[in-house]
Amino acid sequence: MKSTVATIMKQKSEHDRITMLTAYDYSTAKLIDQAGVDMILVGDSLGMVMLGYENTLSVTMEDMIHHTAAVSRGASSAMVVADMPFMSYQTSVYDAVVNAGRLVKDGHAHAVKLEGGEEFVPHIKAITEASIPVVAHIGMTPQSVNKFGGFKVQGKSLDAAAKIIRDARAVQEAGAFAVVMECVPDKLAEYISGILEIPTIGIGAGAGCDGQVLVYQDMLGMFSDFTPKFVKRFANVGEVMKAAFKDYIYETKSGAFPAEENTFRMPEGIDFSTLEKEDNTK
Ligand code: KIV
Repeated sequence: MKSTVATIMKQKSEHDRITMLTAYDYSTAKLIDQAGVDMILVGDSLGMVMLGYENTLSVTMEDMIHHTAAVSRGASSAMVVADMPFMSYQTSVYDAVVNAGRLVKDGHAHAVKLEGGEEFVPHIKAITEASIPVVAHIGMTPQSVNKFGGFKVQGKSLDAAAKIIRDARAVQEAGAFAVVMECVPDKLAEYISGILEIPTIGIGAGAGCDGQVLVYQDMLGMFSDFTPKFVKRFANVGEVMKAAFKDYIYETKSGAFPAEENTFRMPEGIDFSTLEKEDNTK
């Protein structure tokens, strides 16, 4: 069954936890889709895990469209959500609508995600009024890394928690159909999940959210620059890949690869020495 805004919202009312994973390319999107994940996020985390930047701030609209289009080609059931990169919506409500539209028209995303709460109500309203579903992202919002002074847990004091609660209410009121909550204490995330009608999708926000999201390289052990506390490693694919790359090097150097089954043969009876005689190779 295809995931839509309606099915995602219904999952909350039926207490069916929503699953979201990131993907940035066709092959991975296809595997994630075939596994039955509800939503695929083309996160601007691609700046770090795919492009090797130290944060997400350098990611461009062109990067996002390029990767979103690839993911969309691989996803047939999951809803594809594309991140709006830094400075693609902060600059104006107009820019927000135009750039959200590009992610849908050119990237074939079903929805967009943007970081921010109360301050982005006009942007969320305008995008949803343009018939583009919006997922909001509150708590530790990585595009504000310089404001926060690092990737730090947010909402630990009562005042900070109150701000995140106001953000959650504001994005719902503005028309967001779901909200990602990143790196907030579990009690706060559970409280917000209880007061909102729209589903909450947590990352580092505990088990009380209506769904969870992870970066696939983190959960597969494919990204070793740093591993946040909230990541669970479901497999060690990085080690499997490295072992296969080593086997390839060994077999290529030893001559074991390519073997008979990997090799094309000339039809019987063709003799290259006749070419030499006729001097046909010049
Ligand atoms: O960019 C991303 O992958 C994200 C998730 C961490 C939620 O925003």
